[in-house]
Amino acid sequence: MKTQIKKINKDSLSQAKKIILNGGVVGMPTETVYGLGASAFSSNAVKTVFEVKGRPNDNPLICHVHKNYDITNLVYVEHNYVYDLIKKFTPGPLTLVFKSKNLVCKEAVCGGDTLAIRIPSHKGCQKFLKYVDLPIVAPSANLSKHTSPVKAEQVYNDLNTKIELILQGGKCKGGIESTVLDVTGEVPRILRPGLITKEMIEKVVGVCEIAEHRESDKVRSPGVKYSHYKPSCETSLFNMDDIDLAIELYDLKEEQGYRPYILCSDVVAKQVGKRRTLNLGKTGKQIASNLYDKLLEGEKKADVIIAVAFDREDGVYYGIMNRLKKSCG
Ligand code: TXA
Ligand code: MG
Repeated sequence: MKTQIKKINKDSLSQAKKIILNGGVVGMPTETVYGLGASAFSSNAVKTVFEVKGRPNDNPLICHVHKNYDITNLVYVEHNYVYDLIKKFTPGPLTLVFKSKNLVCKEAVCGGDTLAIRIPSHKGCQKFLKYVDLPIVAPSANLSKHTSPVKAEQVYNDLNTKIELILQGGKCKGGIESTVLDVTGEVPRILRPGLITKEMIEKVVGVCEIAEHRESDKVRSPGVKYSHYKPSCETSLFNMDDIDLAIELYDLKEEQGYRPYILCSDVVAKQVGKRRTLNLGKTGKQIASNLYDKLLEGEKKADVIIAVAFDREDGVYYGIMNRLKKSCG
């Protein structure tokens, strides 16, 4: 099967709808990362999603809906604070985990009794969701464990010949996956940090917990237990205080005939002299937006990516560090 990348227009949307209604899968843009979409009601389509990605079958999928969709068709909204969160943060990079009404196929939720729902803000994605008018489950459109794609071409690199169509939506502005928030309890709990931060949620609800994942705990968001987001080349990760050590490793690798790159913020890039860098930018927003793009650029041209962390872990940096540790740690 030849994989095509197509601009979002009437033709490509009608092709996408046909594929979805026939139980197939479609690459689709969102404001965070590209997704691999399938009908939430089709067991076969969802099985195909897991197969195409090579995804472990105990890791449930997020269900994407358009902004006028009535989510109470699919889930029970048990707490009033949820409406405040929906009002403030959707459409946008926030995924809410509810008690499910068990209408989507069991493969999508891996047999669980909760369902994660997301209303993406990407305009092209909204068009697609409205056009198909079905809840669409979509994991990130990468091979399992690999770095998530933020450009249609990066989806192509992972999934060429495995899917028919990728909708072209440009570079994803957010750059890391949505915040996954459990809203089944009295207090919302972050299962996966992202662009909607603990601080932002606290401003709306007053309180917000972060789920800790200890080996002994029942894993609440199964995805967080797997190794993830890995570029295909060698990587290592240094604290910002250890720039000297990062530079030492760079020089050693270069002496040994390898081609190292330093992945870092703009501040650090200015401290490493003429050494090659993958510059993530200045602000948290820029760094999140560029992280996967630079990792994927890096794996193409570097033998080793030497990542340098940041001097803070609050706000959006919490989510960024979560991804950086998994991809390069
Ligand atoms: O930004 C995003 O969320 C992207 C775009 C495509 O929307 N999607 C994405 O999907 O990151 P995926 O499959 O790569 O990650 C979904 C995460 C996993 O960590 C999974 O365990 C968690 O959400 N999840 C899904 N359903 C859940 C549920 N019912 N309960 C707890 N965690 C759930
Ligand atoms: Mg993923």
